Amino acid sequence: MEISLLSIFYLVGSVTFIIGLKMLSHPETARKGNLIAAVGMALAIFGTIFLYKDGDKGLHNYAWIFAALAIGTLVGTIAAKKVKMTAMPEMVSLFNGMGGACAALISVIEFQHNFRFSDTPGWHTTIGISIGTLLTIFAGLIIGSISFAGSIIAWGKLNGSIKDFSFKGQQITNIILFLGILVVSGYLIAFLNFNNYYLFYVVLVAALVYGVLFVLPIGGADMPVVISLLNSFTGVAAACGGFLYNNQVMLTGGILVGAAGTLLTILMCKAMNRSLLNVLIGSFGGNAAGNTQQSIQGSFKEISLSDAAVCMAYANKVIIVPGYGLAVAQAQHVCHELEKLLEDKGVEVSYAIHPVAGRMPGHMNVLLAEADVNYDKLQEMEQANDQFKNTDVVLVLGANDVVNPAAKNDPASPIYGMPILEVELAKTVIVNKRSMKPGYAGIENALFFQPKTSMLFGDAKAALQKLVAEIKTV
Ligand code: TAP
Repeated sequence: MEISLLSIFYLVGSVTFIIGLKMLSHPETARKGNLIAAVGMALAIFGTIFLYKDGDKGLHNYAWIFAALAIGTLVGTIAAKKVKMTAMPEMVSLFNGMGGACAALISVIEFQHNFRFSDTPGWHTTIGISIGTLLTIFAGLIIGSISFAGSIIAWGKLNGSIKDFSFKGQQITNIILFLGILVVSGYLIAFLNFNNYYLFYVVLVAALVYGVLFVLPIGGADMPVVISLLNSFTGVAAACGGFLYNNQVMLTGGILVGAAGTLLTILMCKAMNRSLLNVLIGSFGGNAAGNTQQSIQGSFKEISLSDAAVCMAYANKVIIVPGYGLAVAQAQHVCHELEKLLEDKGVEVSYAIHPVAGRMPGHMNVLLAEADVNYDKLQEMEQANDQFKNTDVVLVLGANDVVNPAAKNDPASPIYGMPILEVELAKTVIVNKRSMKPGYAGIENALFFQPKTSMLFGDAKAALQKLVAEIKTV
């Protein structure tokens, strides 16, 4: 077997994807991992452009190819540079949608390339299209279109331009539509001919409509899980393209994205103690959630900045619990300043990271890494739960659900069973948030009413700036 230079490029590309993905699993190596995978992708792209040969014909249309590359690179670079950390899931969703659209377009183009009518008058037949190829074309078309349409809706929901929407019988409509898509596709794969080929485009439109209807009713706050799921769809759709073109690097890349997206979806659901089905049809975080939760009786107490400063400055050990509010307030830098200040005063400081704190996987890790917080100071949930009982002060910064004891104590709570950070085991708990409003799950939090908890109200950034100034005077 002849080994071409292009196949070596593809091999190197595939290996760099795998190494890059592995390195993404640790913040210290993630940046480098991303770069390594990007180099692999560049090798695969430029290798294909300059080395691909069909017979003795190479690629042509260079002007189109490079114009598209230039536009894509420019838009991607500007978007990635400008995006705010909190808007990252939106951008991922939009880019993922583009991947789905590419995979669907590949199917459309390959269908048109392969489907030919015989030149003989009155003799309508297809040539050059095997059942296997058709199956792959349909899989790429359906999965890619669902991923594209669903990702665009998810993007709109995250930026607030599309509201949650459902109608009576929507789930059953979705199921019928999906089955319809499968039946028509199966029929075409078996009996494609001149009279029914237009149904291919009906499948395309139906898959787009299904993508919209599939994501529309899902609660806006569940979008990160949905995006991860759609991301795995895009991976599978791209792998279909790899099969069609017999392109190993596309196949490897697609399978890796498909597998990683699926694993991430499962991990997120597990960390929230919810099934994927519950995420997809549960309208979690909407009005329905929390109606059955025990209502919380009692009062909460506030703490002044000076008392909070004294409490922390004279503690032996402080654990900070960051949450979504810290990201909203962009208070990570001042949080790091607080940590250094306390350490200068001899206080042992660390961070307790809940796997689904914030709104995207690894949100808190990325946020704190941005402020140069030493990664060794980050404790995972199980580790932190062992530490709380020996801790003087836990400072909860814009976190709510991830420290809600209802997850352990209230079987009627929608978050019952979700593992939480058991901060109430510490001697003192100080909670910073702006009000008594609930977090993502839309439910009250009994932690705020416990005798050892004190509320420090205010925007996290402003409150921390004042706290830092106050501690300097202690
Ligand atoms: P949440 O439960 O959403 O609570 C965040 C709290 O931050 C809110 O109660 C809010 O209270 C406060 N806040 C907002 N802006 C603030 C600001 N500028 N300054 C100070 N506080 C502010 O957050 P969490 O504890 O991080 O939990 C995450 C939730 O999201 C979980 O339920 C999780 O299941 C869900 N979720 C996570 C993910 C991933 S992958 N991370 C994906 C989907 C869903 P105020 O309005 O009173 O300030």
